[in-house]
Amino acid sequence: MIEKINTSYGKHLTQLREGKSLFENYMNPYLNKAKDMRESVLTIEELKKKWPAIFPKEREIIIDFGCYYGKFTVELAEKNPEFNILGIDIKYKRVVKTAQLIIDKKLDNALTLIANGLEMLQSIPACSIKGICFFYPDPWPKKRHQRFRVLTSELFSLLNKKLKNNGFIWIKTDNADYYNELCEIKEINLFQKLANIDSVLAESSYKSNFEMIFNNQNKNQYSLILQKN
Ligand SMILES: C[S@@+](CC[C@H](N)C(=O)[O-])C[C@H]1O[C@@H](n2cnc3c(N)ncnc32)[C@H](O)[C@@H]1O
Repeated sequence: MIEKINTSYGKHLTQLREGKSLFENYMNPYLNKAKDMRESVLTIEELKKKWPAIFPKEREIIIDFGCYYGKFTVELAEKNPEFNILGIDIKYKRVVKTAQLIIDKKLDNALTLIANGLEMLQSIPACSIKGICFFYPDPWPKKRHQRFRVLTSELFSLLNKKLKNNGFIWIKTDNADYYNELCEIKEINLFQKLANIDSVLAESSYKSNFEMIFNNQNKNQYSLILQKN
């Protein structure tokens, strides 16, 4: 169980979709856009009500945790039509931009969710996702902020429950300290390490928005692929 999860992300959208007005003068143009994108931006309440039937067609689900502007979400969906891809982020602008890409490309196997991804993982039943990708999660480099990192022992225990057998976790980071700490987490031994993702996905050369930035800066990057036995 992960404690003290912030469950406030996406609540304004829930209020608007339920026809309620917002108390404060909340001025976010992307919130209004999200309100009308019912087919491609879900709230956590909508996801809980519909799961696993959140996509038009039933297929195994892969999560892009922290989808940002959606480059990777969309590439995954385009190259892997046999899977449904769910991009999750906590910021309206990011899910709306991702959803707009999905709409423009007429993809029926991709959606977004505005919510804390940790809340989403706690909400779904055991053995219900095929895979989850954490590409460049916020590194929180300052010591006093490291408690905000998402990749923790509690998360790996949770993922061990929520992934299907043979389900995968794919992590990338540019932060050596975060990567080294990750490798010390004993719960990663619940999983088998994979050398590459080729046995699961159509290819391995997907590039997220942040990966493009770090490639241009010639930064070191670290990757870890785990599979549930
Ligand atoms: C450093 S960015 C990386 C974005 C993207 N994965 C990429 O590689 O381009 C981290 C993203 O994770 C999102 N994020 C942070 N905490 C989150 C959480 N608990 N649930 C969902 N998204 C989260 C942030 O809003 C941000 O868009």
